[in-house]
Amino acid sequence: MPGCSKGAMAMDEPSALDGIVIRQVVEDDLPHLLCEENAVYLRFMFQSAFDSMRRGEQLLWVAEHATDGIIGQLIVQFNSMRVQLADGTRRAYFYSFRVHPQWRRRGVGSYLLRHLEEDLRQRGFRLLTLTVEKNNEAARRLYERHGYHVVGTEMVNRHSNKVNGRWQEAEELAWRMEKQLF
Ligand SMILES: CC(C)(COP(=O)(O)OP(=O)(O)OC[C@H]1O[C@@H](n2cnc3c(N)ncnc32)[C@H](O)[C@@H]1OP(=O)(O)O)[C@@H](O)C(=O)NCCC(=O)NCCS
Repeated sequence: MPGCSKGAMAMDEPSALDGIVIRQVVEDDLPHLLCEENAVYLRFMFQSAFDSMRRGEQLLWVAEHATDGIIGQLIVQFNSMRVQLADGTRRAYFYSFRVHPQWRRRGVGSYLLRHLEEDLRQRGFRLLTLTVEKNNEAARRLYERHGYHVVGTEMVNRHSNKVNGRWQEAEELAWRMEKQLF
């Protein structure tokens, strides 16, 4: 499997996750990353995140199944203008967390999260933050199970496809959640 060794980490996982490898994204993965149908803007966002991964500013992780291919993903950002999200040394921020609908509620999201947290511990990050839309209660519950708690609210930009040649943007209020990694 291309790129499987780079960034891959062996962990003791339940058998439901057998055959799933967590690894860093390679360029050939970009068209296969998960997004809603017709969400062209996300393709631009993935390319931009991949470019910043090459500069060492972000990391893109995927969960890959032996036959189904990419079934989950998330992106972690080390630095941000909003230091309450990421500050480059102690605090990192993850976003674009998604599992293929047919693979949800089988532990893939949790596997990705645990992998991310362990990788960040090894890099010396003490805090991990995220934002979750206030109406996304299922995701918030999952984060709480993993030890994240709400520390504030955050305005987040939601992009959508072009209308009359212009990218549409909307600001939404979301929970900011945080977990102490060590
Ligand atoms: C949020 C998301 C990434 C979670 O991924 P996932 O693979 O479904 O996550 P998990 O399977 O690890 O956990 C989800 C739930 O399934 C449960 N679960 C895990 N394995 C299970 C199994 N084998 N059988 C039944 N339930 C299971 C977990 O306990 C968890 O329950 P909870 O919601 O009550 O805490 C996924 O739902 C998704 O892509 N959502 C759309 C995008 C999104 O909202 N992203 C988050 C943005 S902030």
